[in-house]
Amino acid sequence: MNYRHGYHAGNFADLLKHTALCELLRLLTAKDKKLFVLDTHAGAGGYDLGSEQARRTGEAEAGIARLTAEARAGMPAAVVRYIAAVQAYDRKFGPSRGALQRYPGSPRLIRAALRPGDRFVACEMHPQEALLLKREFAGDRAVEVRQADGYHALKELLPPVERRALVLIDPPFEAIDEFERLARAVRHGLRRFPIGCYAIWYPIKDEAAVSSFFASLSEVKCLRMELDLGPRVPEGKLAACGLVVINPPWKFEEAMREALPWIAARLGDGVRAAFFASSASADPDARK
Ligand SMILES: C[S@@+](CC[C@H](N)C(=O)[O-])C[C@H]1O[C@@H](n2cnc3c(N)ncnc32)[C@H](O)[C@@H]1O
Repeated sequence: MNYRHGYHAGNFADLLKHTALCELLRLLTAKDKKLFVLDTHAGAGGYDLGSEQARRTGEAEAGIARLTAEARAGMPAAVVRYIAAVQAYDRKFGPSRGALQRYPGSPRLIRAALRPGDRFVACEMHPQEALLLKREFAGDRAVEVRQADGYHALKELLPPVERRALVLIDPPFEAIDEFERLARAVRHGLRRFPIGCYAIWYPIKDEAAVSSFFASLSEVKCLRMELDLGPRVPEGKLAACGLVVINPPWKFEEAMREALPWIAARLGDGVRAAFFASSASADPDARK
């Protein structure tokens, strides 16, 4: 387990995943009913953008920094809300000095959206990252941090007593069988709790692996969206990724169809956002 999200926090993959996460949380907490949130691969919780890790890759500079530099006029509402959540986290560490100093990981974005009575479990397996995550939420009784395998937690914690859940699955894809493990976990989760909302991030490096992952979910109705930086990305670096949302709430698709192309245009020429109506088709012609 070598992956550290500190190298990648605030990059293009986070822009996709976290804009969507903020929207899902907003829509799912709009109803006056309790929500259970499970973050299966939570990371450290929050990241210092001035750290050696972040400066070495420059991914936040090429990602979130491009969005925070934009004027709010004409910005899609989902992006405005996402940036507001990012800046609110940054302000916890002191008054703004212009550029962002800190970036919130998924657990921080989730925590900020929780209402009294909602429940949140964040799993992180790496001992060092889990320790950082525990420190991030020390004394906060609204967050249960587990140093645990998120795939096991998914089996253990579904169905939730609340009967409403958002499950974020964001693996590092270091293991060669990660897609297979992921597919098994999602199918298992759906068997236990078919009405849950599942948001699953995936890298696009091996098209065949992505296709067979979606083939394994061919019966599942979902919204799939992707962000592709194009051919200028150096060899070996992640150039494209996607997020699939099973059982998305009403209005989610509309918000993302407005937000994602706008984000893509801010990331550079040739950066593309694509939407697939459902997992049943992996054919690019299905892109709208
Ligand atoms: C992509 S990062 C998570 C980023 C985080 N979700 C965010 O958006 O801020 C993936 C994390 O999963 C952890 N991890 C790897 N395998 C795991 C497993 N089976 N269960 C829980 N965490 C795992 C890694 O240590 C890493 O911190």
